[in-house]
Amino acid sequence: MNRKYRKTIISGNWKMNKTASQTKAFAEELKTILPKTKWCEVVLCVPYVNIPAALKAFRDTRVAIGAENLHAESSGAFTGEVSADMLKDLGVKYVIVGHSERRWYGGEDDLAVNRKVHAALSAGLHPIVCVGESLEQRNLGVTGELIALQVKTALSGVPADRMRRVVIAYEPIWAIGTGENARAEQANEVCQSIRTVVRKLYGARVARSVTILYGGSMNEQNAYELLAQPDVDGGLIGAASLDAEPFMAIINASNQGE
Ligand code: PGA
Repeated sequence: MNRKYRKTIISGNWKMNKTASQTKAFAEELKTILPKTKWCEVVLCVPYVNIPAALKAFRDTRVAIGAENLHAESSGAFTGEVSADMLKDLGVKYVIVGHSERRWYGGEDDLAVNRKVHAALSAGLHPIVCVGESLEQRNLGVTGELIALQVKTALSGVPADRMRRVVIAYEPIWAIGTGENARAEQANEVCQSIRTVVRKLYGARVARSVTILYGGSMNEQNAYELLAQPDVDGGLIGAASLDAEPFMAIINASNQGE
């Protein structure tokens, strides 16, 4: 982290977990242990149907609510889909774009991710753009090129003044939900390479201020070391964000000196 230049973000990603009443119960518990001092932005990305409950439960707190997906079009004949404007109008601040599970199950490619990034930005949302390699790709030694291509395509056409709202999350697919996190230096190496791509596209100032998260089996045991890395500016946390205590432990792990 480098809190002098950029925001630290600890974001949960609940995936397809919890009902609205479980969302409320989680919020009640987290609110009792959440400290008043704000050293990082705390975000919870929840299923669409839980967004109203989450917004209500976390009203008047520092916790921002995010969605886990959105549609690239602003309206129209897209049965079952949700637009950026609908999310913004509810009070949502963040939206995950291009999570590997969406790329895999939803068939989203880099170009689709780019369209969704534009939709999110046009509506005033903060996209959390996910990139990451599979184990096969890592073993082939193409991680750097692959991540650079994912980042460049996702950001294609995004003007520099909108980059203030863009968050990038490095999530190696082999680390997601597997209990096998990337080693801290491995995570930092890729996050640093993402910053280099952003520098080439937008210059040093934007690169220095862009928040780059790590995600993939981050938990209360490994968070401190991962977050101590200079280019890891926070975490996107799946399983460990489903209970208030481990999630709070990760928030606490981001409160470390530089
Ligand atoms: P995990 O999920 O923390 O359960 O590995 C992270 C993510 O998919 O964002």
